[in-house]
Amino acid sequence: MSENINPLTIEEVAEECRNCKKCPLYLARTTVVPGEGNSKAKVLFIGEAPGEDEDLQGKPFVGKAGQLLTKILQSIDIKREDIFITNMVKCRPPANRTPSKSEIDTCYPYLETQIALINPKIIVTLGNVPTQYLLETTQGITTLRGQWQDWIGKIKIFPMFHPSYLLRNEGTFPGSPKELTWKDVKTLKKAMAGL
Ligand code: URA
Ligand code: URA
Repeated sequence: MSENINPLTIEEVAEECRNCKKCPLYLARTTVVPGEGNSKAKVLFIGEAPGEDEDLQGKPFVGKAGQLLTKILQSIDIKREDIFITNMVKCRPPANRTPSKSEIDTCYPYLETQIALINPKIIVTLGNVPTQYLLETTQGITTLRGQWQDWIGKIKIFPMFHPSYLLRNEGTFPGSPKELTWKDVKTLKKAMAGL
């Protein structure tokens, strides 16, 4: 096999992202947030877009929602270094608005390349934006969370609530977002044990 077929490494994709001016999000960004973690991870987490803290630090999920995500992962003995974490778009939308379809379309080749290089077995989509885009559905996360979806090749998608949603809905009671997420991460943990 030729070495030239797939010359990109994860770090080269990140560098391309850092130089990207393909959509208007580059205008207001402080830093690009290409994603980070284990480039051989079996599980890839995909969020929506960098927020303020991420934009300042150049790392995904480092603000309040990110700290909750880290805690959720710790609760099932997963370290952030074991997985890879990225977002649908690599630059922060002004005032944290939802990225537009056209911004996601423009950024998607970076994510596609990351997925091809990492070749994960499981993609966990966090919230509506990555779930609906990758599964090409209008069904909501409340319906889809916790349900395994066949995706491209052998990759399975496992949608979960976005940690920001959990921060806005703090209560724990039967059927609460927190309780459902606890159930979902246990399901995820079991699946990971079998990989
Ligand atoms: N929310 C996201 O979707 N992604 C981040 O990186 C941080 C917050
Ligand atoms: N809406 C979202 O985008 N994500 C959630 O997790 C819940 C509602």
